[in-house]
Amino acid sequence: MIADKILVLDFGSQYTQLIARRVRENNVYSEIFPYNASLDKILNFKPKGIILSGGPSSVYDKKAPIPDLKIFELGIPMLGICYGMQLMAHLLGGKVAKAVKREYGRAELMIDDDSDLFSGIPPHPPLTKGGSRGGGLRTIVWMSHGDRIEGNPEGFLPIAHTENSPVAAMADKKRNFYALQFHPEVAHTDKGREILKNFVFRICGCKPTWTMKSFIETTKHEIRERVGKQRVVCGISGGVDSSVTAVLVHEAIGDALTCIFVDNGVLRQDEAKKVEGVLKKSFHMKIKYVDASERFLKKMKGVKDPERKRKIIGNEFIRVFEEEAAKIKNVAFLAQGTLYPDVIESVSFKGPSATIKSHHNVGGLLKKMKLKLIEPLRELFKDEVRVLGRELGMPDEIINRHPFPGPGLAIRCISDVTKERLDILRKADVIVLDEIKKAGLYNQIWQTFAVLLPVKSVGVMGDERTYDNVIAIRAVTSVDGMTADWAQIPYEVLGRISNRIINEVKGVNRIVYDISSKPPSTIEWE
Ligand code: XMP
Repeated sequence: MIADKILVLDFGSQYTQLIARRVRENNVYSEIFPYNASLDKILNFKPKGIILSGGPSSVYDKKAPIPDLKIFELGIPMLGICYGMQLMAHLLGGKVAKAVKREYGRAELMIDDDSDLFSGIPPHPPLTKGGSRGGGLRTIVWMSHGDRIEGNPEGFLPIAHTENSPVAAMADKKRNFYALQFHPEVAHTDKGREILKNFVFRICGCKPTWTMKSFIETTKHEIRERVGKQRVVCGISGGVDSSVTAVLVHEAIGDALTCIFVDNGVLRQDEAKKVEGVLKKSFHMKIKYVDASERFLKKMKGVKDPERKRKIIGNEFIRVFEEEAAKIKNVAFLAQGTLYPDVIESVSFKGPSATIKSHHNVGGLLKKMKLKLIEPLRELFKDEVRVLGRELGMPDEIINRHPFPGPGLAIRCISDVTKERLDILRKADVIVLDEIKKAGLYNQIWQTFAVLLPVKSVGVMGDERTYDNVIAIRAVTSVDGMTADWAQIPYEVLGRISNRIINEVKGVNRIVYDISSKPPSTIEWE
């Protein structure tokens, strides 16, 4: 059975991804296409509804993004949000003008019509005195716009207003075209979820059939069909994405999957053992453990520049992986944990993820070994991958893991990367994680770790003068890793971490806590 789908056309809003996620929360599948997607691509997707996202442009900009105009003739219900609304007005014969006052932030929406879009929204007590024209329902919405609609296009009627926007929502009920000046996808819009839900179910008539269970079944079936009697390799690193990919592919084809775990010498303490422990013991997967640490460390000898470290690790990984994969007979596929945000070909999503993951890019490998890609997570957001992992029975220990960079401890061992320095760093790192977990802070923090600095400082232990290493502790909170705040860890916890590292890790006599946010700092030190 093919699930009902909603298409989101992206005009560059920072909230575009959120729209797709909100739709999916209702168990209806949603995808984002760039605003200029071809009509064929759109029709192929067979959407039951189309949402035009917001965006930073004004419809009067010379380079204003405009979709294929034929999308308005497909007979498919539409919802325009912010810029999407102005586009509908502008392209369908209405009037868009600069707002007298830019409207940004909370606004009180007066609903003037009992349209399906606002169905079930209870009246909200007014926040401001007076101001109401229609006297209908009121609710709080989130606005962010410079232009406003001053004349609705033919066929449309205004269905809500705010103090500054005479047409804060409009509808052409005949064509099932709806438009909102505010953002229903953000949490600040009180009834935003209901409004989107109304669009998806009442207006587009979707059925809520897209669940993780159905996703797993469909995906397993597809993998089986594609792979046939051939074999698949998958590189695992202990991270959430590669682990969930491996488990899902394994569920589909069992031992026709071989996982390769490359120990690059810059992993956390006992990392390989832990990951193997879970995947081998609980899921009975075939895992090839390759200890390539010496190779990696040899290549990194004397290298101080972080970007060189990244390149060396990336290139060497491909080499090792290639050698190992070549030993497996009949391999035709490489399974990879690419997520949806990595593949969205979107005007708004130019985040650093593409470059951050460059070292994972095994493109060269695919060509040389003639492998085809299996990317079962390419339609999912990170939080959905976690739900999927849980549904597959994977333990929290893997699902809730903090992200760990591909170049690993090499970029936390500032300057020279040697076995001795890595050993000091590893021991300190274990203590940081242990104490953070004991304090119950692990799940509130995005990432926490130790950094070994290339400075020595004077100390006194017992009656002796020491001249030893400095460890910096990093802990940040973040939603997506793009921006981050330093975490306000209680002093007692920091105190315990400091005491334990100095007492238990030989070669360290000073601990400092990093209190910088991103930007202007980054999460990693290198
Ligand atoms: P920064 O340090 O740029 O990191 O604030 C943002 C997020 O990306 C991770 N990171 C990397 N991940 N390869 C990766 O796979 C890398 O080279 C890399 N550099 C940083 C970092 O740990 C954080 O989660």
